[in-house]
Amino acid sequence: MEKGKDLSTQEVISTKQKFCDVLLNDAQNIIAGEKEKMRRRRLIFPFEYAEFQNLIKAFGNTCLAQRNQDRNFVIDKFNEPVIKQLYLYVTGNSSFTGDLAKGLLLQGKYGCGKTVLLETYSMLHNHIVRKLSLNYPVLRFVKSVQLQEQIKEQSMEMFVKRPLIIDEFGRESKTVMDYGNISRPISELLSLRSDVGTITHATSNFTFKTLSSDEFYGGMIGDRLKTMFNFITLQGESRRK
Ligand SMILES: Nc1ncnc2c1ncn2[C@@H]1O[C@H](COP(=O)(O)OP(=O)(O)O)[C@@H](O)[C@H]1O
Ligand SMILES: [Mg+2]
Repeated sequence: MEKGKDLSTQEVISTKQKFCDVLLNDAQNIIAGEKEKMRRRRLIFPFEYAEFQNLIKAFGNTCLAQRNQDRNFVIDKFNEPVIKQLYLYVTGNSSFTGDLAKGLLLQGKYGCGKTVLLETYSMLHNHIVRKLSLNYPVLRFVKSVQLQEQIKEQSMEMFVKRPLIIDEFGRESKTVMDYGNISRPISELLSLRSDVGTITHATSNFTFKTLSSDEFYGGMIGDRLKTMFNFITLQGESRRK
């Protein structure tokens, strides 16, 4: 009797051990699957740095032309270091100084070229995707004020999973009245996106300290910003003339 019990306990232990191994293996497979899903959602650029610079200049020119500006996109000592980092990021190069799994938050003074640079990147990215009919989501470039309006008019759900570049992040009013309730659409959207791991890029004139102050998004969202973004500073004064 006692012997039989010992044996079955042994059996249970051994089956449990095997079952545990199977579950651990499953977890590894799920992680590998999620990584693959993320990888498939992100276009890795196939260019050399010199080619990338030429493409940024050419698509930068189209970006400026669309604004009816008769000037060429310039790469100089102020924006070249950021263009280099952007290159390492879009080619998935581990020499990128930040975290390749997070988005880019471009900061700098008014007029130093944040919007034009990230819009140029989105135009180039989307052009490649459309030209080659690739199965990657296009990057949607939107001003935070407009995004807030669109969230109010449509539903928050529409914006949770698609790749976004939020221009002038932090410039929208932080709270809105929604049928008598106070809501914080952009904060809420960022939380949801961070929960599902959607990559968000942004430009902002505000520092991290300001963005996470109580007058802006507060400490809790501020903490999320650290997990969502690589903070990159674009140097230089205003290029407007
Ligand atoms: N790389 C560039 N080369 C030439 N002109 C630029 C460049 N980047 C920006 N500009 C000029 O500077 C202006 C302001 O740039 P913008 O990207 O809107 O600044 P920010 O978003 O940092 O406030 C643009 O309208 C354009 O005329
Ligand atoms: Mg701007």
